[in-house]
Amino acid sequence: MKKSINIDNVTVNVFENAESGSEYVANLIQQKIDKNNRSYTSTVLGLATGSTPKKLYEKLIKAHQENGLSFSRVTTFNLDEYYPISRFDESSYHTFMDRQLFSKVDIDPERTFIPDGEIAKEEVAAYCEAYEDEIKKAGGIDLQLLGVGTNGHIGFNEPGTSIDTRTRLIDLHEITREGAKDDFGGIENVPKEAITVGIETILDSKEIVCMAWGKHKAEAIAAFMKGEITTENPVSYLRTHPNVKLVLDKDAASLIEDY
Ligand code: F6R
Repeated sequence: MKKSINIDNVTVNVFENAESGSEYVANLIQQKIDKNNRSYTSTVLGLATGSTPKKLYEKLIKAHQENGLSFSRVTTFNLDEYYPISRFDESSYHTFMDRQLFSKVDIDPERTFIPDGEIAKEEVAAYCEAYEDEIKKAGGIDLQLLGVGTNGHIGFNEPGTSIDTRTRLIDLHEITREGAKDDFGGIENVPKEAITVGIETILDSKEIVCMAWGKHKAEAIAAFMKGEITTENPVSYLRTHPNVKLVLDKDAASLIEDY
């Protein structure tokens, strides 16, 4: 680790690169799961997709294969899924999670929850309430992993989202759709909506680890650290949570003073 500071309730850990930052987060998660496994308790993880957690998932798979890390008592809730989308679509977050983590560790598929992009429109509201209920039934999220959008979104809670939001259907911002166009082979193929957990759902987690790598994240991170808590920068809501770790590479930290 290059540097660690505390601002409000947020611990900011800056690493040389995404590799060493991901290693740090993988160790945190491994320790938590191992400790709970030893006392036969479950671990509830909130998971993100996108490029940010890919190295982390690689490291968790390695820990499973080489250090005996077992996911058999782990329950996961993903933040979001495009809507509408088939779970079998190459670009769905269901496919992403299967490929990047679930199919390579000993997790029980019955314990992996991802918002369903195939639900009929008129059933979405009830479905979203049921998703929140599942989180409660599991005992709440022990550790929520987050990436951050270049526009400051967390999950798909886009700028303009209020703090009291729960799981729901949202309209994706054009900037978010633009960012996903390569995954879908053109912006015209990117769904216009998504189901996302809300800000309040995220803030209910016992612990939050938000990761950001690269210069293109530096502005959102600087606004989070230095700016106001505002609907215009949803990641700034994390400053109201008592237990948040921000894990950055030096590029993502480049616009924070003192780095
Ligand atoms: C993904 C998610 C999003 C991403 C964010 C960053 O489940 O909720 O908030 O974390 O868009 O995306 P990447 O990691 O691709 O830069």
